[in-house]
Amino acid sequence: MNFHIMTLFPDMVEQGLKTSIIGRAEAKGLLSIDAVNIRDYAFNKHQSVDDYPYGGGAGMLMQAEPVFQCYEAVCQKTKASKEGKRPRLVYLSPQGRTFNQEMAEEFAKEDELILLCGHYEGIDERVLEEIVTDYVSIGDYVLTGGELAAMVMIDAIARLVPGVLHNDVSAEFESFQDHLLEYPQYSRPETWHGKQVPPILLSGHHANIEKWRREQSIIRTAENRPDLLEKAELTEKEQKFLEEYRKNSLQS
Ligand code: ADE
Repeated sequence: MNFHIMTLFPDMVEQGLKTSIIGRAEAKGLLSIDAVNIRDYAFNKHQSVDDYPYGGGAGMLMQAEPVFQCYEAVCQKTKASKEGKRPRLVYLSPQGRTFNQEMAEEFAKEDELILLCGHYEGIDERVLEEIVTDYVSIGDYVLTGGELAAMVMIDAIARLVPGVLHNDVSAEFESFQDHLLEYPQYSRPETWHGKQVPPILLSGHHANIEKWRREQSIIRTAENRPDLLEKAELTEKEQKFLEEYRKNSLQS
């Protein structure tokens, strides 16, 4: 999968993503990260890309033309454009749809994705109307720019690309995939700071371990993200377990 990031801070994005698992995946040729500097498409000698908003108001806006020229240049590089198609372009903005695992899975199906990072007070609306296909926010807070948001999205999408994680099963079974949070995990030593690993995990009884892990996931979700439980598919036994758990926690 090829990610193209349109940004005023290409180093930030490249340095953030080219290390660790995503960097290794790129070295293996499973994906590519191409950060493109919008400033390279400035059309004046000062290389400025921002100007005052019509109608007044605080701050500056990114102008339409450098963003558009940058987009055209990125499109020329994509496979889709050779077939006469345009890849999806995500504009990172607090006004977008809130990013979640389902969206990550949907974007992971694309061969090519362009991410546009805004700065200052935003971008001239006219170019957004022409090029943006998806408006995405990573949460209800305002960042200084879209770069961190683009990196969050790319990380969440890239790990779903086959081969990126060491074992493909782990992407499937983790938090959110089945609308439950992950169960607690333990490694050596068996006792640390006086705390024991739950004995069931040392029992070697796989069915019981699976059952315990599901129950722990259910408890965690009920405690921390009860909203997710509405979508979780629980068996009748698990439903009973949850009711029991809730009753007991009300009493204690
Ligand atoms: N740019 C600034 N804040 C943002 C947010 N919360 N999500 C995505 N892009 C942003």
